[in-house]
Amino acid sequence: MSYFERHIFFCLNERESGKNSCAQHDAQAGFDHCKSRVRELGLADVGGVRVNKAGCLHRCAGGPVAVVYPDAIWYSYVDNSDIDEIVDKHLKNGQVVERLVLPDDVGL
Ligand code: FES
Repeated sequence: MSYFERHIFFCLNERESGKNSCAQHDAQAGFDHCKSRVRELGLADVGGVRVNKAGCLHRCAGGPVAVVYPDAIWYSYVDNSDIDEIVDKHLKNGQVVERLVLPDDVGL
């Protein structure tokens, strides 16, 4: 058994060049909301879910982005209801939220 069942990494990067970056799209608020929701649901313990900050994940054009491992599912989210759906369906129950999955061809 792995120490945590799943990790979700949120890009919080701000690109100095002024190019599109997750920080410009309220990534910090998404991260904060996810962390609170995971705690609220009692998922934050060992064997559960770890919510982590990340720097640029190299998929800036789809920002704000987050990735769930070990499933390697990438999401682009807009607001707290999107985060709630990712937490409730994927992080808690292992169901991918297809409508929020980042298309494979989205990069920088
Ligand atoms: S700034 Fe978020 S993926 Fe690059």
